[in-house]
Amino acid sequence: MPKLHLFLIRSRLPEVFTALAVLGAGGAARGVEPTPPAAPAVSTFAPAADLIAAARGYAESFAAPTSDAAQFASAQAKILKDSHTLAAIALALALSDEDHPLKKSSGDLLAAAQGLAQASDVENARQAAEKIKAAVADGASGTATVEPATWHKVASMGQLMKQVTFLNNRLKRGLQKNRFEQMAGDTAQFSAQLAVIAQAVTGDTHEVQNPADTDKWFQFSAEMRDAAGELNQAIHAKNFDAATAANARLEKSCATCHEVFHNELAQ
Ligand code: HEC
Repeated sequence: MPKLHLFLIRSRLPEVFTALAVLGAGGAARGVEPTPPAAPAVSTFAPAADLIAAARGYAESFAAPTSDAAQFASAQAKILKDSHTLAAIALALALSDEDHPLKKSSGDLLAAAQGLAQASDVENARQAAEKIKAAVADGASGTATVEPATWHKVASMGQLMKQVTFLNNRLKRGLQKNRFEQMAGDTAQFSAQLAVIAQAVTGDTHEVQNPADTDKWFQFSAEMRDAAGELNQAIHAKNFDAATAANARLEKSCATCHEVFHNELAQ
């Protein structure tokens, strides 16, 4: 019996691997995750200045709701999605090819954002919020390094998608012709965050039920990232028509992906 077993494994290695992959995709323990394509340089889809502005906005927004238990309880859902988003932003800042003011503290920022995401009581939340504040300050230094120094999962996809909805709605309002230029500071931040979120979920293939669809996952998340990056560039260029076109591409990317991976929304 053992001999036969060995023989089977030897001669049918590819099939065995396929079978394992299929089993893994059924939701049971998985083997090695499929490797996503290499990410483009962060600056091509999310300028550090926009990410830093967003990170500072979140840092400031955490102060009041982490100052007392009642406020914390009522703001917990928002804090959760914001802190997960901030973790993805921190990773992008750590990996950014730009020489930016939070380069030294982005590891601390990531750790603190994840700490806040995990905080279940106001005292822990307050401490994490303080660390976040320190890590986004001008000239902040830091001790934590980001490991591995590549894109990896730092936040929950469910939380990031909640943020995607929120950012996308705010973005749409800011892209109306009469406020396009006036809202450019905000919409630049929103589009940069959307691009980062798209890149952050690329390697997170847990929603892919059928391993044969994994490449589609990589392709659709890259499409969302690139559309959001193109939108960000159009906003910076103050080009309304280009922004409108890029936003249409972005919206299409949501629908394309949901059609395959999140059916109940597409219907
Ligand atoms: C790469 C694939 C992909 C792309 C691109 C994508 N989504 Fe999703 N989306 C998903 C998956 C998968 C879920 C389910 C996640 C979960 O519930 O954990 C989801 C969930 C959602 C939800 C439900 C979140 C909730 O509250 O539970 C909304 C709303 C949503 N997406 C909006 C968007 C919008 C808007 C865009 C485009 C700007 C977008 N998505 C782009 C895959 C994608």
